[in-house]
Amino acid sequence: MTSEPALRLGVAGLGRAFMLTLPSLLADPRLRLVAAAAPRAESRAAFEARFGGRAYADVAALCADPEVEAIYVATPHQMHRDHALTALAAGRHVLVDKPLAVTMEDGAAMVQAARAAGRHLIVGPSHSFDAPVLQARDLLASGALGRVGMIHALNYTDFLYRPRRPEELVTDAGGGVIFSQAIHQIDVVRLLAGGMAESVYARTAAWDSARPTEGAYSALLSFAGGAFASLTYSGYAQFDSDEWMGWTGELGHPRDPADYGRARRALARVAGPEEEAALKSQRTFGAVPVPAPAPMAEHFGPVIVSTERGDLRLTPEGLWLYGHEERRFLPAPTGRAPRAPVVDALWSALREGQAPAQSGAWGLASLEVCHAILRSAATGEPVALSRQVAPGTP
Ligand SMILES: NC(=O)c1ccc[n+]([C@@H]2O[C@H](COP(=O)([O-])OP(=O)(O)OC[C@H]3O[C@@H](n4cnc5c(N)ncnc54)[C@H](O)[C@@H]3O)[C@@H](O)[C@H]2O)c1
Repeated sequence: MTSEPALRLGVAGLGRAFMLTLPSLLADPRLRLVAAAAPRAESRAAFEARFGGRAYADVAALCADPEVEAIYVATPHQMHRDHALTALAAGRHVLVDKPLAVTMEDGAAMVQAARAAGRHLIVGPSHSFDAPVLQARDLLASGALGRVGMIHALNYTDFLYRPRRPEELVTDAGGGVIFSQAIHQIDVVRLLAGGMAESVYARTAAWDSARPTEGAYSALLSFAGGAFASLTYSGYAQFDSDEWMGWTGELGHPRDPADYGRARRALARVAGPEEEAALKSQRTFGAVPVPAPAPMAEHFGPVIVSTERGDLRLTPEGLWLYGHEERRFLPAPTGRAPRAPVVDALWSALREGQAPAQSGAWGLASLEVCHAILRSAATGEPVALSRQVAPGTP
């Protein structure tokens, strides 16, 4: 065990994202939750009752708290820029949940502000922090399998039918599957292929006029060095690709295949947008008990990586390696909370001075791919990329 002091984290936004990351934060002795900001009085009271820290009504007051060392920005996408800039101006490091921002201008301003302040900006959690993804990244980086040639990533979920705030169904405000879901797949695939995507060719679909934003896409990414990757996603709540992941859910919990159609059934009982937003807030901190960390790693659907010397298939328990004459299973490390690698990244950055793989510049490069998917789908043409970086670029 290290003698370095625990990280002192403040949280902006006590909603769904915080609730999903919280079990992993609580399980980690390297980190203490010391303060928060939340507009709702009940959330603030729940935070203080549970953690004994200070909960503020606004993010500027949180950032001014002298005990806070880093801020986890878990507010809606469109607020990431203001909240990150406020934190950086106060000299705090920032962990901002994905996506970095909605617009490239906002994202670039965040990267610039972090550099100017000399503070770390880490973008996560995204599924590129999942233990099997990091295990695959390390194996590929060892050179044992030769060069990466092709990656297929796909995911079929009920994303579009989970309870949403109204702006989560408006693409220009960062709604739909591109900014909230493609960003995970892009991060995963870029990390496995080395980060330097060169172009994107894509199609998107918005098939439900009652939820008029992108619900599905397919994209082909070309990488420097010749590798290519296909990314496919559907959030229309029909086929569920957890069926191909041994019925382990995205968050590492077992799923019940008999519970078919649950998201659509629940939504059908909701009277309108206000009631739907209220339903979403019932899944946030203070409204429901904090669960124990999930028993298995998180995942983002099937991912297969083809290399010169074998195919690698990611599962929530580890990697299947299919070589030329034999196949073997390489178990992922066990006994850690699913989002422990996010704390690892914060710890190495703040206590060991090591630039995080998923830095601000990395997040901006992934955001560029999101915009390229939308542009390619709108024009029917491939889109060239210009903001790509390798992992660990500050
Ligand atoms: N990594 C993941 O697994 C994951 C999962 C869900 C959401 N997210 C990301 O987290 C972010 C938030 O999404 P969500 O689904 O949690 O939304 P949410 O609505 O559940 O939570 C957002 C929270 O921010 C609070 N908030 C709003 N304005 C605020 C302000 N000015 N100051 C402080 N708090 C404020 C709201 O009260 C709410 O509790 C999004 O960027 C989303 O992409 C990540």
